[in-house]
Amino acid sequence: MTVNVIVGMQWGDEGKGKITDYYARNAHAVVRYQGGNNAGHTIVRNGKKYSLHHLPSGVFEGKEIILGNGMVIDPKFLIDELNTIKKHGVEENLHISDNANVIMSYHIIQDELEENLRGGKKIGTTKKGIGPAYTDKVNRIGIRMADIIDRERLLKRIEYALIFKNRYLASLDSSFKPLNAEDITDEYFKYGTVLKKFVKDTRNYLYTLQEENKDILIEGAQGTFLDIDHGTYPFTTSSNTVTGNASTGTGIPFRDITKVTGILKAYTTRVGEGPFPTELKNNIGKYLMENGHEFGTTTGRMRRCGWLDLVMARTAAKMNSISEISLTKIDVLSGLDVLKVCTHYEYDGKKIKYFPSDVEDLASCRPIYETLPGWKKMSSEDWKMVFEAGIPDFMKEYILLIERETGAKISLISYGPDREETYIVK
Ligand code: IMP
Repeated sequence: MTVNVIVGMQWGDEGKGKITDYYARNAHAVVRYQGGNNAGHTIVRNGKKYSLHHLPSGVFEGKEIILGNGMVIDPKFLIDELNTIKKHGVEENLHISDNANVIMSYHIIQDELEENLRGGKKIGTTKKGIGPAYTDKVNRIGIRMADIIDRERLLKRIEYALIFKNRYLASLDSSFKPLNAEDITDEYFKYGTVLKKFVKDTRNYLYTLQEENKDILIEGAQGTFLDIDHGTYPFTTSSNTVTGNASTGTGIPFRDITKVTGILKAYTTRVGEGPFPTELKNNIGKYLMENGHEFGTTTGRMRRCGWLDLVMARTAAKMNSISEISLTKIDVLSGLDVLKVCTHYEYDGKKIKYFPSDVEDLASCRPIYETLPGWKKMSSEDWKMVFEAGIPDFMKEYILLIERETGAKISLISYGPDREETYIVK
């Protein structure tokens, strides 16, 4: 029985979707522990592109899919997502935690109003209501999945929440009309009726799966440095993205985790605001953005691009107990004469090896690079041929540098979006 965790080592968008899809082959169940539909996976199967937001990638493998208690779920959005995959002939085998919090329509309004109020200090949220839903959870006025399947209970919870929400939202926007508890109850109970068959105590269900020796794959959304505690606060998401939360967000005991695989993109990207030491605001950054199709799956925004940052990777490897790395999008680096890799930062006249915890400190760090030779641009057929003979010589220095600096082994290399464009390191 294994409990494997997959976690992003950067600012999200490392290509976790494809890798989870790959590893899901050997798992019985795929579980998510945090975040909501702010996540976006693009999966390419047989040349067809799919975008997933709440659902982890294993859904295409017919695996049991579990949306854990640590998630925030937009039921309207989830129903649409389920309808879309059904149209493609995929049958879901879904379980939703009764304790997962619900993203309500007023959370989305709040997200938008708060972002507007931030003016020049925007976080750059996905405007999906993620932050407000987690805020209400912590404030104990959240609505849970167990509530939306019981009309009477839902009405009471919404009436209670609106005591606070109506006042707060009116204070943000003078034209705001107070929300009516009955109307919202009608809407969300409708979603609850559709989703009811999936809602259950997923913690205890997972224990049953463990007792039956089933292999479980836990998938993190976003990435290590978007973590609310360990990321570049306040330019983070509102949940704990690191492996430590894989236990809290599902109920699986942390000692039962058998392996953590980190997903590392061969260069760095970030969506939204915040300091980014290896950012390339030049033609190389533009090249990576275009070559890597670095546009958000959820928001369509352009991602900022930069060189690979091993200070981030080293810190992520340590914090998440990563023993193996899946290296993604290595093909995107092709066609550059030289490649730079940041191994340390210079901070306050000193050379440092771990990512600073404070965002202001990070903003004053300067990257220290090693420069390696690049390699020529190749077609996807060429890539397939090259990898048939193993890791190509021209790439070995890049791989060894990552392994040396992070202390983790690269066990998988992804060189294209299709699941077949994957090399398993022997
Ligand atoms: P929120 O999660 O919508 O509150 O957004 C907070 C920050 O996290 C913003 O900078 C978003 O761009 C970023 N973010 C949220 N989800 C993802 C993701 O899946 N990939 C990359 N960035 C994300």
